[in-house]
Formats: sequence, structure tokens, C-alpha cells
Amino acid sequence: MSFPTTRLRRLRRTTTLRGLARETRLDLDTFVQPLFVCPGEGVRQPLDGLPGMMQLSVDETVREAEELRSLGVRAILLFGVPEAKDDAGTGAWATDGIVQRALRALTASDPGIGLLTDVCLCEYTAHGHCGVLEDGEVANDATLALLARTAVSHVEAGADVVCPSDMMDGRVAAIRAALDDAGRERAPIVSYAAKYASAFYGPFRDAAGSKPSSGDRRSHQLDPANIREALRECEQDLEEGADAIIVKPALAYLDVIRAVRERFDAPVWAYNVSGEYAMVKAAAATGWLDERQAALESLTAIRRAGADVVISYWTKDLATWL
Ligand code: PBG
Repeated sequence: MSFPTTRLRRLRRTTTLRGLARETRLDLDTFVQPLFVCPGEGVRQPLDGLPGMMQLSVDETVREAEELRSLGVRAILLFGVPEAKDDAGTGAWATDGIVQRALRALTASDPGIGLLTDVCLCEYTAHGHCGVLEDGEVANDATLALLARTAVSHVEAGADVVCPSDMMDGRVAAIRAALDDAGRERAPIVSYAAKYASAFYGPFRDAAGSKPSSGDRRSHQLDPANIREALRECEQDLEEGADAIIVKPALAYLDVIRAVRERFDAPVWAYNVSGEYAMVKAAAATGWLDERQAALESLTAIRRAGADVVISYWTKDLATWL
């Protein structure tokens, strides 16, 4: 049936009709807000490349979590900005590490919000790499034990979910085994399985102080040109025991989200990363586009591509927009 019998504009004429015809909806239950925890007290340090985001001290993280919860946000993802760094990234798994302290304070205040943590060494190593170095290269197997230790320390401090973002081979299996050995078999692993070596992490690395002092992350993160390899990463992580998998970044990789969604039945998450957020913020600041509209369109596109859950710096705004 074609025009004039069929007129696709009929269902677009009013807000009500458009609402009835809408195929993809945004629901706060499926969004995660990242937070950056830093040392000190009463600290709310604005971040240059991430307008609206702040480094928060532990007490302020607790306050922020309470506010997010009151707005209806269901989960936060914690990143740590430690007071000191060393070559082994000791601060990542220290019992009194910055994320561990935040987790204990959050658990004690019972904010009623899901506590997720990023598991990687890059914020804690003096050289800024995601693992320990051997002969100037990120050493895979030597890093695994440290990641596993980090994940266990997060769960013991109160994390509900750990999210390994390092891209070492075999890290999901290593973390699963360590959690199970520690009697934490109920703690899920949501792995950044398809994580690309992306320019869009720029503002985050400033925010978290995790820029590598030399070189880059191309020896472990995926080449932006590859999608079959991303599917192999997902397959491996799921075989090793990942409970859900993350595609990251999101907007330049919507085809990857779609392919992962079609290939696997496991939950697929997407990380709407710092550069994707910063670009819209910058354009909105000059008046070139409307932030709310551009953000809602971006988030809808990520969900439409097939992501079940979206990690986004807009989550708090979304709570007020919806
Ligand atoms: C690594 C990590 C990164 C991000 C999340 N976890 C940065 C990187 O791999 O260099 C980026 C997130 C963002 O850009 O919003 N721990």
C-alpha cells in the first residue's frame, strides 16, 4: 500500500500520536551515573573537560549519592583519584584506597543506590598505564593478579558490581576465580569487553588523572577499525564468566552495539564516554545546539542500537528531564 492511502505522517501529527508510535524509550532504571572520588573533605572540584562533573571527596560522594537516589537514579559507577601513585598501582587494591573508603562510607549511609566500580590500574599507576610494565610494555599476566585483588577489595568494601576496563586477556576469568575464592560468588562482573582505543576518552583522563605518561593504549584496547575482533572479545569475556558486557565508546560504535546485541543474549551495556558528552557541552556553550535535545537524541540512539543499559554523564540531568 502506498501514497495516498498510506501517509506515514499521520502518526507524527501530535505529541500524543508520536508518543504512541515511539519505539524506544528512556527509563532511569537503565542508566548509570559515573562519579569521581578524590581525597579530602568537603571537596567538590569542578572538572574542566567535563562541565557539570566534579571530583568529590568521600563525604561529598555520599551526599551526591543520596541526591541522585532522591532524583530516581538507580546506580553509580565509581572511579578513584588517589592521593599517591606508584609503579604497581597499589592504591587500586589497598584496603584504605580511595574507592574502598568511598564504598564503606556509602554502604554505611545506605543510600539505596547500586554501587558499581571501575576495575583498572591506570588511575593508580605513576606511569598511567592499565597494568604493570615489563620492558616498557604492559605485562598481561602479571597484571591479572592485581586486577583480581582490586575487584575483591571493592566487593569486600561494599561494591555490588565490578566492571573491569583494563582489556588484559583473561582478566574476567582471573577476577571470577578470585571473587569465588573469597566467597563472593554472588558478585556480578560487567566487563568492558569491546573497549576501543579511542580519542573520546580525553576529558576523562584529565578528570581521573589517568593519562599515560608515554605511549598509548593501543597494545590492549581495540582498533577502531575492527568489529569481528570486538565480537571475539565479547565471546571470550562471556565464556570466562562475564554477566554482562560493555561496548565503549557508544556513539561512534553504534554498529558494534547492534552486532553484539544480535550475536549474544547476555545484557549489553554501552558507555557514553567523556568526549561524547564534552562535544555536546562545548557546542551547547557556544549556542550551536540545544544540549537537552542533543543529549536525549544521543541517548535514544544508543538504546535504539541495542544497549540495555547506558553509562552516561547525563544520567543526573536525565533524571530531571524525564
Ligand atoms: C580506564 C577507563 C577509561 C575510561 C573508563 N575507564 C579511560 C581509558 O581507558 O583511558 C573512559 C571513560 C570516559 O571517557 O568517559 N580505567
